Amino acid sequence: MYALEVKDLEFGYRDELVIRDISFHIEKGKFISIIGPNGSGKSTLLKILSNLYRPNSGYIFLDGKDIRAFKRKEIAKKISLVPQDTNIDYDFMVEDIVMMGRHPYKGRFQKEDEEDYRIVEEALYMTNTLQLKDRLITEISGGERQRVIIAKALAQEPFIIMLDEPTSNLDINHQIEILNLLKRFNSKRGTTIVLVIHDINLAARYSDEIILLNMGKILGKGSPEEVITTKNIESSYHMDVAIEKNKYTNTIYLTPIGVKG
Ligand SMILES: Nc1ncnc2c1ncn2[C@@H]1O[C@H](COP(=O)(O)OP(=O)(O)OP(=O)(O)O)[C@@H](O)[C@H]1O
Ligand SMILES: [Mg+2]
Repeated sequence: MYALEVKDLEFGYRDELVIRDISFHIEKGKFISIIGPNGSGKSTLLKILSNLYRPNSGYIFLDGKDIRAFKRKEIAKKISLVPQDTNIDYDFMVEDIVMMGRHPYKGRFQKEDEEDYRIVEEALYMTNTLQLKDRLITEISGGERQRVIIAKALAQEPFIIMLDEPTSNLDINHQIEILNLLKRFNSKRGTTIVLVIHDINLAARYSDEIILLNMGKILGKGSPEEVITTKNIESSYHMDVAIEKNKYTNTIYLTPIGVKG
């Protein structure tokens, strides 16, 4: 049984389809990156997969079961989504935000217990945000906020974590720290990771598989070596690129040479 299986997915905000005829599956416990140019449909796809948007047609099976058969709370126990845009205007404390990750496990009037506090503290610790726990979410930096939102997703203890460009506001140290943390979560707990990321080299370094989206369609899916080819990158990003192995990480390494004329 797959963690996620998608069949013949189509979606449009208006008449025009932005997700076209997408089918794929993700095996349990894999680390998957979705790459593709701006506007290719990556964020839209993640929102459909996490049940925020209903597709015009097609099917999504989550852990073997049609996603439409799940209750909202049950989906929240299975999937946590870290969105691209994490603006929060409310004056919540960091610890309260992370505690929201525990809501799917609580009845309507049920208070948080010791176990919830332990899980929240662990998530804060793992994302290196424990020192921020009593600060207001509106009064920390963009990168710190991004780490807090990831802490909330971890506290949700889902079976799949989907993250939309979680490292885009982070310095190189914190980028690697977050990706290492996701990798650790992935290998220790078997949590399936689905990551949208622009940095193709980081995608290649951390992922078991890469999905390359172009104009709402899948242009390639497979190992980094299979997907990150000069042909695929040239036809989707319209760039001349050089692709080699990085001698330090021993993973695929892409250097942009120039925009295709
Ligand atoms: N709320 C919306 N209403 C209408 N059209 C939208 C909406 N959000 C996105 N789109 C359009 O859908 C297409 C796919 O957008 P999407 O945000 O999924 O791209 P993306 O691959 O995540 O891009 P980026 O790399 O810039 O984040 C684009 O053409 C975009 O203009
Ligand atoms: Mg996006």
